[in-house]
Amino acid sequence: MTIKLPVYLDYNATTPVDKRVLAEMLPYFCENFGNAASTTHSFGNQALAGVSRARQQIASLINAKSDEIIFTSGATESDNIALLGVAERYAYKGDHIITCVTEHKAVLDSAKRLEQLGKRVTYLPVDRYGQINLDQLRAAITPQTILISIMAANNEIGTLAPLREIGRIAREHGIIFHTDGAQYTGHLPLDVEALNIDLLSISAHKLYGPKGIGALYVRKDNPRVSVAPVIFGGGHEQGIRSGTLNVPAIVGFGAAAELCQAELAEEAQRLRGYCAKILRELSQAIEGVELNGHPSERLPHNLNISIKGTRSSDFTGLLGDIAISAGSACNTANPNPSHVICALGFGNDRALSSLRISLGRTTTLEEVDYAIGRIIEASKVLQLVAC
Ligand SMILES: Cc1ncc(COP(=O)(O)O)c(C=O)c1O
Repeated sequence: MTIKLPVYLDYNATTPVDKRVLAEMLPYFCENFGNAASTTHSFGNQALAGVSRARQQIASLINAKSDEIIFTSGATESDNIALLGVAERYAYKGDHIITCVTEHKAVLDSAKRLEQLGKRVTYLPVDRYGQINLDQLRAAITPQTILISIMAANNEIGTLAPLREIGRIAREHGIIFHTDGAQYTGHLPLDVEALNIDLLSISAHKLYGPKGIGALYVRKDNPRVSVAPVIFGGGHEQGIRSGTLNVPAIVGFGAAAELCQAELAEEAQRLRGYCAKILRELSQAIEGVELNGHPSERLPHNLNISIKGTRSSDFTGLLGDIAISAGSACNTANPNPSHVICALGFGNDRALSSLRISLGRTTTLEEVDYAIGRIIEASKVLQLVAC
């Protein structure tokens, strides 16, 4: 089989829209183009029907109810609403939130904003695998704590959070639990009921849907959770997120969620196998390969490694034919070492030599073999130059 170059191995940055998703979206651009809020005629009703179906498809993926899905422009906005919206709505209860040092900037910068507004934030450290310590979480809780926000899966190193335990601790203390599920949702099973998740950020473009659309799951019962809006206007999305709905994108998001639900188990198994093969073969062929992140509690399609004596920026220069990420694509404007790898406690060298390889639905075994060969070649060149 011939391989189409360059090989895309950066699915944690974004995924292509699945062609089946695109087919579902297309009628909503020029034919069913109505405004989903204009329900005095059939155009609006058709659009609304598409939105309602998508809401159900997304709710089903996470075991929620349709009216608990609030459409946003993506996980960045969902994270902002979760942190700023809870801080405002529950200000009467307390002024303290708990998060973690390896969160995405959408959470970290929202937390910083809250500090500027006079709130108190605890940033929990992580261990060398990227997980928080549950005793430290318990110890950080005060009577003023209103929110715990810990990401479900890290976008750089793929480490999963102990969601069940965090959810249990939050529930025991009557604290709202938000998790940024941008990288997790659609790739591993996620049940908001079983895990006691109160708020969940989702992004369509990480699960083979279009860019610029996402959702915030907001729990309605046991307990009913409320968030103050950060965008004001026509009162769409239960007043939490005003703005005319992006119907084609929402329809695509729904279709993508349904496909993930159907294909997730098989896809995870296949990609986990590919990641294990890459790690094994690179470790055999190259000296000084270290896995960043947890060895088993990790996303099935993410591999983050550091290669001794190399710089990840040199790799990406040498490897024009494979698209991998040096650190996090969410932060390429930032020339400093990754805050995530630094937080693992290994120092700058390991952070600066880290490569993120992330696989996806269209990744083939041939592409994996090709990438392994190219990374081995490039490592040998770079390690020789370093000597
Ligand atoms: C963990 C995490 N949170 C939030 C985001 C932002 O998502 P979006 O691009 O939908 O705003 C990303 C994507 O880069 C992410 O990986």
